[in-house]
Amino acid sequence: MTTKEKVNILMVDDQPGKLLSYEVMLSELDENLIKAGSGKEALEHLLKTDVAVVLMDVSMPELDGFELASMIREHPRFQRTAIIFISAVRLTDLDRVKGYEHGAVDYVSVPVIPELLRAKVSIFAELHRKTHQLETLNRELEQRVAERTEELETKARALLGLNLELAQKNMELDAIVHTAPDIIFSRQTDGARDYISDRFYEYTGATASSAIGFGWWDYVHQDDRERSQQRWLECVHSGQNYEVEYRLRGGNGDYRWFRARAVPIRDPEGKIIKWYGTCSDIHDSKLVEQSIRDNAIELERMVDERTAALRRLSVRLMTTQDEERRRIARDLHDGLGQELAVAKMVLGKVLQEDSAESEKRVCIEASDIVDRAIQQVRSLSHLLHPPLLDEVGLLSALRWYLEGLTERSGIETSLDVQPRDFPRLALDLETAVFRIVQEALTNVFRHSEARKAWIVLTQREDATVITVRDDGKGIGKRIAELQPDSVGIGISGMKQRAKEFGGELRLTNTHPGTLVELVIPSARAVSREVCSA
Ligand SMILES: Nc1ncnc2c1ncn2[C@@H]1O[C@H](COP(=O)(O)OP(=O)(O)OP(=O)(O)O)[C@@H](O)[C@H]1O
Ligand SMILES: [Mg+2]
Repeated sequence: MTTKEKVNILMVDDQPGKLLSYEVMLSELDENLIKAGSGKEALEHLLKTDVAVVLMDVSMPELDGFELASMIREHPRFQRTAIIFISAVRLTDLDRVKGYEHGAVDYVSVPVIPELLRAKVSIFAELHRKTHQLETLNRELEQRVAERTEELETKARALLGLNLELAQKNMELDAIVHTAPDIIFSRQTDGARDYISDRFYEYTGATASSAIGFGWWDYVHQDDRERSQQRWLECVHSGQNYEVEYRLRGGNGDYRWFRARAVPIRDPEGKIIKWYGTCSDIHDSKLVEQSIRDNAIELERMVDERTAALRRLSVRLMTTQDEERRRIARDLHDGLGQELAVAKMVLGKVLQEDSAESEKRVCIEASDIVDRAIQQVRSLSHLLHPPLLDEVGLLSALRWYLEGLTERSGIETSLDVQPRDFPRLALDLETAVFRIVQEALTNVFRHSEARKAWIVLTQREDATVITVRDDGKGIGKRIAELQPDSVGIGISGMKQRAKEFGGELRLTNTHPGTLVELVIPSARAVSREVCSA
């Protein structure tokens, strides 16, 4: 309390003059002074207000001081009210004793010494004030204690609720752990296991709790132990999740593959305090995986084998095709061609002899038809297999072919050979080169809208290079990349023929035009004789 709280001082006397003198004496104390002219009036004041000190005259009419003091003391509210008697007449020790018996705290005789009275009243007023303050403090303290108790009770209730919830969660967790097909475990940071679910003991047949600590490792296949422990140390160091596969020995002595996984649990500062993990049986899926891998390897091997067989077959097919063409060409030339030549000779003879004009006209017509037939047979036979290829070689056959193409298509062609004394190549290679150039030029004619085509044959030290270039619209990107689904039989045949000789076929869009390049390594381009350009 910072400012002084005034207390009430009740002065009781039937003589107003005395009351006034007490008032004067006590005014210095700066308390509330209340005057009562009789015991009755004093009681009225006491009932209405809290009084610290009652100053009363012993001798009063109606209700004297002793009687009034007894009545005051009887009331529990006034137990602590200090009563001071003042008397001018009843001054014996007996009177004083009686006063104290009636609850007085002091007995002052008249004449009253003002300083003494002030000191006495002041002490009791102060005592009352202190008692009052103490009571207020006590009440506040009690209030605070009550509030704190209430708060603690609320917290205790909440804690109880949480505990119940925790117990429920523990039960749920227990149910999960016991029904889970996986082994569940926890490890300390040094790797020692401090919890392992029953599933481990069921599988391994180990006695309960025997794998706690480091006993678990006894059941891990010895070939997998070092790798797993190494991985564990790495994870402890880096804080990464742990995942490793190893074999665990079952109760029957057989090993099965398991996948162990663990995640770190950290404290609020981020320090790892524990690891929780599972260990799942992956044996069956691992076996299936292995068998799929084995099958895939076997399948790949079979595909490679079949591809090689197909390649061999296609080479044989092309060789057979070339041979067959050559045979048909000869048959046409030597058989039908000869017959037609004979027919022409016979007709010529008829025309020289004296025949009727009309017969001659018929013979001339028949001779023209036979001429055309001979021409057609020759063209057909040349296209099927240029005779010049076998006899005088690739260059002559190509020249003959280019002439015919220019004549038929109007596309201007040029053939360049380097060196000029271009060597002859192996017969099968010359056939292949001829067919490739023939297909490339057929494509130029059919797809490029070109007006010119350049054919260059180069014999380098390390390779034979053949290029066919046109000034047409150019080849599509996917075709140039030789994507299997974009090329036709023509280009794939060219590629196949190149491969047969260990060579490579390249297609480029040269904007404008298309460049077809064939490179055959020298080892395969066996030279037989030199043919002059
Ligand atoms: N010189 C070229 N200029 C532009 N496009 C070309 C040229 N050569 C080839 N092509 C494109 O490449 C495609 C594939 O050619 P490819 O020779 O493989 O098949 P094709 O000519 O369509 O049919 P075929 O199997 O009868 O030869 C052609 O359809 C054409 O679109
Ligand atoms: Mg083609």
